[in-house]
Amino acid sequence: MERKRAAVPHGAITNIPVFIKKADNFLLTDVDDNVFIDFGAGIGVINVGHANDKVVEAISEQAHKFTHTCFHMAMYESYVQVAEKLNKYTPGDSQKKTYLINSGAEAIENAVKIARRYTGKSAIVAFEHAFHGRTLLGLTLTGKVSPYREGFGPMAPEIYHLPSPHRPNIHTLSHRKPSEYTADFIAEQLKTVVPVSDIAAFIIEPVLGEGGVLPIDTSYLQALVTFAHDHNILLIADEI
Ligand SMILES: Cc1ncc(COP(=O)(O)O)c(C=O)c1O
Repeated sequence: MERKRAAVPHGAITNIPVFIKKADNFLLTDVDDNVFIDFGAGIGVINVGHANDKVVEAISEQAHKFTHTCFHMAMYESYVQVAEKLNKYTPGDSQKKTYLINSGAEAIENAVKIARRYTGKSAIVAFEHAFHGRTLLGLTLTGKVSPYREGFGPMAPEIYHLPSPHRPNIHTLSHRKPSEYTADFIAEQLKTVVPVSDIAAFIIEPVLGEGGVLPIDTSYLQALVTFAHDHNILLIADEI
């Protein structure tokens, strides 16, 4: 811990004060040989378990072929294969395309760029309690001042927030029943926030993560989709 404190900035926060030396499937072993059940799973990205044989084999096979070319310099087929698979399994009938990038924040930034360019509008509406990343735009979209945004201003322009539909009990949605969520209700909410004609996109977590691991009320999401459709607004689903 002393070495971590000296070498790594405080921003790289950790939940439990242990250093892992190895892991097998769902079990983590720390440097003192304590064994833990891994409920965190790298925040849900190790769903096939640690050191999964197939994953280890695929990484090893690829490492023997070539390490990295940067797809923008020289292409390779596996990039296209992954894109094809993701396009196939993403729900909906419309044509899909996949762009692979380095991080969630970078994905969000690019989604906002695409929405602005496509619609020719600039405002983005996010939701309170959401988390969208640690870059300037990601932070601005994040609907939580403390601890994420505090002291890092000024934030990026043209970002607005609505109350979180995942946590209606603590905000202005408290008196609403799910069936009352309509496109008109969204219009009412926006009246004091931003002109509808300026909005390029809504960005929302279908399952709120950092804000409490809460699924959205689907009738709110449906109302948002209808409203977005009617006003040439895109909907960005942050499922990172
Ligand atoms: C919902 C959501 N959006 C964006 C991000 C940012 O992803 P990254 O840390 O890979 O930049 C996260 C990270 O946890 C996230 O949970």
